[in-house]
Amino acid sequence: MELASAASADVTWPSWVLVVAAVLVPGLLLAGPALRSRYPGAWWLLCGFPAVAFRVVQTWRPLMAGCGLAVSRRPALTVVSGLVGKGAPPPQPRVPRRGLIRPTSGGFVLLVRLLPGQVPEHFVKAAPAMAESWQVHAVRVTSWKPGIVRIVASAVDPLADPQVPKQRGPGHLLRVTVGALETGAAWVIDLRRVPHWLIVGATRSGKSTLINALVAGLAPQPVALVGIDCKGGMELSLYEPRLSALATNREQAVRLLTALVDLTLDRMSLCRAAHVRSIWGLPDKERPIPVVVIVDEIAELFLVASRNEKDEAHAAGTALIRLAQLGAALGVFLVVAGQRVGSDLGPGVTALRAQLGGRVCHRVADPGTAEMALGDLNPDALKAAQAIAPEQAGTAVLASGDGWERARSYLITEADAEAVAAEYAHLTPALSELHVEP
Ligand SMILES: Nc1ncnc2c1ncn2[C@@H]1O[C@H](COP(=O)(O)OP(=O)(O)OP(=O)(O)O)[C@@H](O)[C@H]1O
Ligand SMILES: [Mg+2]
Repeated sequence: MELASAASADVTWPSWVLVVAAVLVPGLLLAGPALRSRYPGAWWLLCGFPAVAFRVVQTWRPLMAGCGLAVSRRPALTVVSGLVGKGAPPPQPRVPRRGLIRPTSGGFVLLVRLLPGQVPEHFVKAAPAMAESWQVHAVRVTSWKPGIVRIVASAVDPLADPQVPKQRGPGHLLRVTVGALETGAAWVIDLRRVPHWLIVGATRSGKSTLINALVAGLAPQPVALVGIDCKGGMELSLYEPRLSALATNREQAVRLLTALVDLTLDRMSLCRAAHVRSIWGLPDKERPIPVVVIVDEIAELFLVASRNEKDEAHAAGTALIRLAQLGAALGVFLVVAGQRVGSDLGPGVTALRAQLGGRVCHRVADPGTAEMALGDLNPDALKAAQAIAPEQAGTAVLASGDGWERARSYLITEADAEAVAAEYAHLTPALSELHVEP
């Protein structure tokens, strides 16, 4: 009796698996495209990842051999095996040992143990070949521990269409997620960590869109926003309800910048009296509100046609440099955008640039601007900036002390930014000392 039931279980078990597979596979094939667009995370885990993991396992040995990462067995061993095996094929070359392939959101990661004589750079060189064989967007290799490298693959291009995440609450003070990095991580602008920013790019490369994303993130926070837009206020006047002050020509800009320098000096006296080195050392109740100064089109401040304008441009430049020098500790932050930031705009620009530690370089029209923005970094960063195509607007190369990376801002349209500014207009701090007469 028991034998009979065991036998029937033997018969039914594989047939059940076949039935389930027969339902599941066409179901997934049919529902795949819809699942992919609606629930990309679930699609990746159920369909994309298993297929790619299978490909990695299948191609591992030939790929390692093809990239010169396999090590042949010692010749003596080959000879011995030939004798013992009586003509059997010689032992296969050793390939680096691969760890478990673990899925990530939109990719996978695996650790690989190096063979003797190998260094991580050998694997870094093989990364493009890995991406081709596994049919993924990109593969990055980093050293994990001595003797072990970490391979991170992204299945799709995280910069193709980064989606604004659902934001809960105003978030951390002065920290805004403005887009996605090439690694798939969030692109965060944290003004407390890097207080001043230079954003460059040719016309329609995405500068204002990035500023929209930054303003949309800062608007719900307890900060004052100040605009300087000498293109007649065409760009920044969108956010006017949320701006504590806006200058739309150079004369107003000089007055506003002078007022900002005075405000900074007042804050310095406050800190000195309290024996603290920055406003962050003051008690919460006494701390003055952080001020973020946004300048769209820096060239408009510096370009001069007449002698009178020269004095104005000089005054604006000097005030900006002072703000940059003193501001960070006193809660005044600068975000400066421009199409062209060359030394031909005057010596002030070069001095200002040196103070703006955060650099974002969108598509540029001239290599000089990329050089000004990215400095004497790795030449690959300059090449990457110049390779950005016009249809990839919003894509930029970010430079910081520890290297460079590609990123793309979220597409926050003017209408979105305008709506956010209106929604949080009630949070606009009244800084009467910054009011510039029209
Ligand atoms: N992150 C992005 N993703 C998708 N499209 C973008 C992105 N950023 C910008 N764009 C597209 O590029 C267009 C121009 O962008 P934007 O107005 O930000 O350029 P800009 O650099 O400020 O140009 P200008 O110097 O003329 O003011 C936008 O209207 C939008 O269609
Ligand atoms: Mg613009």
